[in-house]
Amino acid sequence: MTKALRQPDGLDVTKPSPARIYDYMLRGTHHCDVDADAAERILRSVPEIRDCAWSNRGFHQRSATWIAKRGIRQFLDLGSGLPTVGNTHEVVRKIHRDARVVYVDNDPLVELHSREILGSAARQVGVICADLRDPDAILGHPVVREFIDPAEPTGLLMTAVLMFVADESDPHGLVRRYVSAVGPGSCLALSHLTDDAKPPVAVDAFRRVFDHATEQMHFRSKAEIARFFDGLDVQPPYKGAQPALTYSGLWGAEDVQLADSDGSRWLYCAVARVP
Ligand SMILES: C[S@@+](CC[C@H](N)C(=O)[O-])C[C@H]1O[C@@H](n2cnc3c(N)ncnc32)[C@H](O)[C@@H]1O
Repeated sequence: MTKALRQPDGLDVTKPSPARIYDYMLRGTHHCDVDADAAERILRSVPEIRDCAWSNRGFHQRSATWIAKRGIRQFLDLGSGLPTVGNTHEVVRKIHRDARVVYVDNDPLVELHSREILGSAARQVGVICADLRDPDAILGHPVVREFIDPAEPTGLLMTAVLMFVADESDPHGLVRRYVSAVGPGSCLALSHLTDDAKPPVAVDAFRRVFDHATEQMHFRSKAEIARFFDGLDVQPPYKGAQPALTYSGLWGAEDVQLADSDGSRWLYCAVARVP
């Protein structure tokens, strides 16, 4: 256990969790020994995974900024992760000082530490511990109803989270449900791990680390990830590009050649407008 880590009562620290493994990859301090061990096992099979995590975080921040620049002032961040530098509210408040953000994550440690970091300073920022597989509970939650006005467009952020949702839980149906709840003019930013064109041995070792974690890993192909955007207006990922999915490092990049990396190629992403 990391020395000063405060944890909620009853937190299961016998199993690694996606939020804490990701925190380790981003060199944060909110993880336990079991998470560090799991992360090190992934790093042995996929040495570029830290770069992958950073490229995803960069996509999250660039896409949230892009959405805010389109005039959107309220954000629902599903699978928000442990607080890190450049949280969603910090990024979008550079564009709109009064932007409202609701963070949602099913790891209770995220709620505890997000609240601690936010304190009373961050007005109009909500944090709830909930599972995105239960959209009724999230969309009907008092905090979401307080901060997200259904009459206004919303920035819906689902970055690096749906790979923890099995096909049996209908991840595509879940995205459709959230999109229909936020309505026209809203934007969806979504990234997802892929096993396309990856060495099967590395993919298998990566997946196996999550077999005994709090959530399991479900890689998806580009075609399966593209289906999350069915019926939406996918935006060009960078200047001069056609509307399409791309690798996380390339989205919003000024120099796409420089931004390309092996780590970034583990994640497809896009931003789309809800017509
Ligand atoms: C890899 S992190 C990504 C964090 C952040 N979205 C980002 O892109 O930087 C995945 C997060 O999704 C959360 N998560 C996984 N399954 C979830 C679920 N069913 N409901 C809500 N959150 C979930 C994990 O707890 C973790 O914090």
